[in-house]
Amino acid sequence: MEKWFSVLILLCVALSIAQPLRMVTDKDYPPFIYIDESGSLVGASVEIWKLWSERTGIPVELIPLEWEEAIESVKRGDADAIDLIFFTPERESFFDFSFPIYEVTSSIYYRNYLPDIDVPEDLTPYIVGIKAGDALYTILSERNPDIQFRFYRSYSKIIEAFKNQEIEVFAMDDPPAQYYLVKHDLIYDVDRSKPFTRNQLHWAVKNGNTEILSLLNDGLSKISDSEIKDIIQSVLPSKPVISPDMRRILFFVSLGVLITFVALFAVNLYLRSIVKKTTKELREKNEELTLVNEELESQMQEARAINEELEAAYNELEQTSRQFRETLRLVSESFNLDKDEENFLKEAFDLIFDMFPQASQGYVSMSGQKWKILSSKGFDKSMLNRMNLESSEVPIPDKAVLVENIRLLDRERMSSRAFKAFEEYVPESKYAMIVPIKTGKESIGEIVLELTKEGQSFSSNDLKALESIADIISSFYILRRYSEMDRKFRKQAALILVKAMEYHDNYTRGHSQRVAEISAFLAESLGFDKEKIYWAALLHDIGKIGIPQHILNKEGPLDEEEFELIKQHPIKGYELIKDTEGFEDIAKIVLHHHERWDGNGYPAGLKGEEIPLESRIIFLADSFDAMTSVRSYRKTPLSTSEALEEIKRCSGTQFDPEVVKAFLSLEVASL
Ligand SMILES: [Fe+2]
Repeated sequence: MEKWFSVLILLCVALSIAQPLRMVTDKDYPPFIYIDESGSLVGASVEIWKLWSERTGIPVELIPLEWEEAIESVKRGDADAIDLIFFTPERESFFDFSFPIYEVTSSIYYRNYLPDIDVPEDLTPYIVGIKAGDALYTILSERNPDIQFRFYRSYSKIIEAFKNQEIEVFAMDDPPAQYYLVKHDLIYDVDRSKPFTRNQLHWAVKNGNTEILSLLNDGLSKISDSEIKDIIQSVLPSKPVISPDMRRILFFVSLGVLITFVALFAVNLYLRSIVKKTTKELREKNEELTLVNEELESQMQEARAINEELEAAYNELEQTSRQFRETLRLVSESFNLDKDEENFLKEAFDLIFDMFPQASQGYVSMSGQKWKILSSKGFDKSMLNRMNLESSEVPIPDKAVLVENIRLLDRERMSSRAFKAFEEYVPESKYAMIVPIKTGKESIGEIVLELTKEGQSFSSNDLKALESIADIISSFYILRRYSEMDRKFRKQAALILVKAMEYHDNYTRGHSQRVAEISAFLAESLGFDKEKIYWAALLHDIGKIGIPQHILNKEGPLDEEEFELIKQHPIKGYELIKDTEGFEDIAKIVLHHHERWDGNGYPAGLKGEEIPLESRIIFLADSFDAMTSVRSYRKTPLSTSEALEEIKRCSGTQFDPEVVKAFLSLEVASL
């Protein structure tokens, strides 16, 4: 543009020599003509004049002035013509106008917060900014004479006043208005009425200057409408896409984003520093904790080891305690004379394997008439027992021994038959303990415990422990021996007593023994213990020792007093026996052996099942033997069948019917 301006100046200089056309123009009518920021005259009009000058070959001098002054300049004849002017009747009085160049609309512009202004009639309440000398003043005044105007020298002054809130409304041609509103960023603060006028822009000369007017029109005719339109369109401003509000919003949003970003960045930096610091602290803490942890771990391990030791000790104690209890129980069982031998040995054997869990096999054998294994583990004892070995074939060592290779010892001590059986049926072992079971000096059996794994062995303490168990087993057998001896002794003593009593009573010799045998036989057939009833029956008449012999052996019937004395013998027998330890029950059986089922017996007159069963059995056996024997009061005894008939007859009165029934079912011949 600057370049063109320079060319124009040069052209003007050239034409000053050749009389250039002097055109005055509004210096502030953008975008048609105005002075830009660098001081150059620019705009569509400059371009049109350049074209005009090219087409006519006549130089043109454009002289920018305030509008009013430009008008006055032409009126005075200081310039040849005026650029871009509307036709008005008033102006026709002093101007002649060229052909129209371009149509321009004009509108009323007002603050967008004011009520709508559509037509000049709406302008009454306002002060309307307008350019001095502008044709719009004439047009608006004609439409509404009440409008109050405020005049400004140029359009830019009007815009400045509007911007400074000096005025709220102004009237202006639309192209320059658009140009300034966009330039000053006011386009979205303003509302616009519909155009209130349309006017053609012309050039104009002073009245009568037809020569210049012809020259102007001639040049204008050489420029097409489209060329003019293109030039003007190229300089018209376009409305910004984004409104100021939107821009403000965008600005604040952007600012917000920026502040947020900066804040985030700052926070990030701050957090980083905190994280760094914290990480360092954590690392230090971690190292400390690692040390503490290691220490704790080692303490834990120590505690765990102590705990394991304690647990092991507790388990050992628990095991020892349990074994101790089991041993005590076994000791207690050894005193129980009712305990079965096989069960006792099995329990003893279980205890042994509990005490020596490492032992994988072993046995307890007894050497009676035949050698016999009573309990075994690790092999089948029945195979060896079937050999029916003599006790002499498996000699028992005198004392407990630890043996490294028991089979070598077995070969030495056993018969070849016994050794072969052991070799065949007992698995090989590596280490063994042999402990004899003794009653005094006599060895009655042995306990053998064997280890089958290489490297295992028993200690001397193990041997002592096993000897203790062997002692308990010995006690079991010793006690039974004494018990048997005691039983035999008592029986012998009782028999001596019975014999003494039978010498006292001539007619009862052998009677007690027979009654004892019949009673035991009957008790057995009824399915209960015969031992007690045997003793009771053997001693049932022992009280007769206290009855005078002459009464017992009296020929003929007894008088009442004598019979009363005889009836005392169950009580006397009871009193003789009752204080003997273990004979308390037997004493009671003896006491009631003359009670009758119907209650007519003596000494207590008990009835039915009030009478001890043993007493009822003995009463029947006693009666049967008496019936079939010679007595002082009956020289000829009854035959067996007569006696059985008599018993049958007395069933339910004298005798218990059930006992009678059992008795009658027995083989009488076997009695
Ligand atoms: Fe009797």
